[in-house]
Amino acid sequence: MRLLVTGGCGFIGSAVVRRVLRTTDWSVVNLDKLTYAAEPRALEETAADPRYRLVVGDVADAELLARLFAEYRPDAVLHLAAESHVDRSIDGPEAFLSTNVVGTFRLLEAALAHWRTLPEPERSRFRFHHVSTDEVFGALADEDPPFRETSAYDPRSPYAASKAAADHLVRAWWHTYGLPVLISNASNNYGPWQFPEKLIPLALTKALAGEPIPVYGRGEQVRDWLFVDDHAAALLAILGRGRVGRTYLVGARAERTNLELVRTLCAILDELVPNSPHRPHAQLIRFVADRPGHDRRYAIDPGRIEAELGWRPSRSLEEGLRATVAWYLAHHDWLVEMRARYDGRRLGLVRPAAAGAEPGGTER
Ligand code: NAD
Ligand code: TYD
Repeated sequence: MRLLVTGGCGFIGSAVVRRVLRTTDWSVVNLDKLTYAAEPRALEETAADPRYRLVVGDVADAELLARLFAEYRPDAVLHLAAESHVDRSIDGPEAFLSTNVVGTFRLLEAALAHWRTLPEPERSRFRFHHVSTDEVFGALADEDPPFRETSAYDPRSPYAASKAAADHLVRAWWHTYGLPVLISNASNNYGPWQFPEKLIPLALTKALAGEPIPVYGRGEQVRDWLFVDDHAAALLAILGRGRVGRTYLVGARAERTNLELVRTLCAILDELVPNSPHRPHAQLIRFVADRPGHDRRYAIDPGRIEAELGWRPSRSLEEGLRATVAWYLAHHDWLVEMRARYDGRRLGLVRPAAAGAEPGGTER
């Protein structure tokens, strides 16, 4: 099996590539633009593997895609390349449209052209798996049931809107052209190698430096946390055994408010770094101005992937967070280096409320 992965140097993509090379005999071509969010060192263990190849390029580059498909002739595409950070999408949405929408469109076009040349049985076996997010479904109120595969699309941020647009394109290529697609929408991922602009590595970076840990609003928003390796396992189960044209929601039934989550991280740090001058780390938590349009709650009902594919998360949130904190402690130099890569605007600085921004309307 030849797998074309896009965005394989990112946080989730690198976990997927590592898992594929460890657990299968497939070969992998990884198309990645190496944006600020990429970390090729997360794939160091695979670099010497002759089954692995990195192609540096843009998923929106139609010529490159045509060459890549013609030369490599993949049996499946696992599409993860994206701009992925909500706060960045608020500050600069254009890159989100270029990569997430136009990039997905170009990849679909290239995959369709390739798929049409395939003889049977390769043609029936081909899969285009699009990796998406639960944010396309908008925000839940506290009393609402979790998202399901049938939930209506209602994206609220430029990031979520761009991912929703991509999901619609993928479904359209299935219904209109018959391209054998799969879509998965996952909840918030955490684990090793996540760029420290996302909540968990950001909070750890700040806590370890003894700096204020920024919690937006009053920390009451709820996210449903999924360990990145469990997500990678789910993606491979869907790719291998998912029903063509179907959507699968991936989540680990681990809802926490942001404040609860950050307090848990601080408590784990207190335990794992007993001689820290910053103990108790929770004293560093600061409420800062809220994200404009901040979605109140995301939560996933993973009933379909559990029942159809037998997927289950391998660990509880507490176990996963403990392993994650231990990993970041062991990779503190990496965290500091990544922080220097960051543009500084958001890293724990109290953000001014966006001029003229309306409250996002987090209920419906
Ligand atoms: P990430 O930001 O860590 O990595 C994105 C990767 O894509 C990077 O390696 C980057 O260089 C690459 N990339 C960006 N633009 C590109 C382009 N134009 N062409 C080629 N490569 C490009 O993202 P992530 O957190 O690993 O997320 C991966 C996918 O999973 C995304 O599609 C995201 O929407 C989705 N997702 C993420 C989460 C989460 O919690 N992180 C949850 C659900 C779904
Ligand atoms: P984030 O990691 O950006 O993921 P997403 O926006 O895709 O859910 O944020 C997770 C939650 O944490 C979200 O509700 C916003 C909040 N948050 C903070 O409170 N402080 C921060 O510094 C960041 C980056 C996020």
